[in-house]
Amino acid sequence: MSGRQTLPLLEDLPDPSGKRVLLRADFNVPMTEGRIDDDLRITAALPTIRWLQERGASVTACSHLGRPNGQPDPTYAMDPIRERLDELAPGVELLENLRFDAGEQSNDPGFADRLVEGFDLYVNDAFGASHRAHASVVGPPARLPSAAGRLLAKEVEVLGGLLDRPHRPFVAVLGGSKVSSKMGVIEALIDKVDLLAIGGAMCFTFMMAQGFSVGDSLVEPDWVDSCRGFLDGPSQAKLLIPTDIVAMGPAEEIRVFHGDIPAGWKGLDIGPASTLAFIAPLEHAGTILWNGPMGMFEDVRFQEGTVDVAEAVADSHGFTVVAGGDSAAALAKFGLDLRIDHVSTGGGASLELLEKGDLPGLAALREASNAPR
Ligand code: 3PG
Ligand code: MG
Repeated sequence: MSGRQTLPLLEDLPDPSGKRVLLRADFNVPMTEGRIDDDLRITAALPTIRWLQERGASVTACSHLGRPNGQPDPTYAMDPIRERLDELAPGVELLENLRFDAGEQSNDPGFADRLVEGFDLYVNDAFGASHRAHASVVGPPARLPSAAGRLLAKEVEVLGGLLDRPHRPFVAVLGGSKVSSKMGVIEALIDKVDLLAIGGAMCFTFMMAQGFSVGDSLVEPDWVDSCRGFLDGPSQAKLLIPTDIVAMGPAEEIRVFHGDIPAGWKGLDIGPASTLAFIAPLEHAGTILWNGPMGMFEDVRFQEGTVDVAEAVADSHGFTVVAGGDSAAALAKFGLDLRIDHVSTGGGASLELLEKGDLPGLAALREASNAPR
């Protein structure tokens, strides 16, 4: 946050012609049995790659994939990514998985030294990994003239701008399973938004704090007090908590409960009344931020809440931002992704940027020798 320097962009690099550029990308794409499910994180890096290639630079990309244990593991080899990258951007080399070396995650200076060897310039376009103070993210800017790529710069502009100057009403819809991982972002958003709707399994901890029984639904008892703090706090009128829930009980019977969910029943989606209450304000929103599915949308029996919210976000005339891998996957599944203004490539990174206003990878770039003052 501090310092007098601002984020260096591609234009702030010395002339890249004939130079060897190390590009940190986040090619940590979803895969099933060695095949890429969604290549958004690869296509999203193409504008930066093209910018560099058009100016005569030779580009070598690097990324992590999955969470191997600091040693080579064929399950996480980069080959499928390299193949796809070669189709999309011929001539770009791709190093092996950065996390095959324990020095990546431990931010070992020796590993960073070896990584930048032979390169003239560094570009970070790995927004999704910029909340990690890992060697390839924070090391190179101290060693080479460096810049934020187009994707990184765009993510920072959009997500940063969201809290600075949103068109109102500003409505946020949060979902996903763990309320514990969203507390910081709720805290950061509650003062800025006009309405904050909470679905997904994280709503059950809020419902418990409201005094309802939640049956066998997922809850985080340690966080009930924090949820109660928001429900009783000065911004309580902004919070929208589900009033009905689709739950599954014995013999896979499915029912909608209003209020209490009996023992033996597990809530798996927001109910129809809640869905209506969530999507009504979206229709007139000036800005929408959506993060996290409303229920277990992978199962068609529990996808309704997520589908309806996704459609309402897509239909909105306001500025729409969707963050987080699961909500992005839901959008793609329902064929709505192209109708969103900004689908963030970051999960944890987007939440941390909203929460803290900065990321280790951004701070490192601002310290680069070529960063504008
Ligand atoms: C992600 O997919 O969240 C990023 O690529 C970062 O990966 P990580 O959570 O394993 O650090
Ligand atoms: Mg992650």
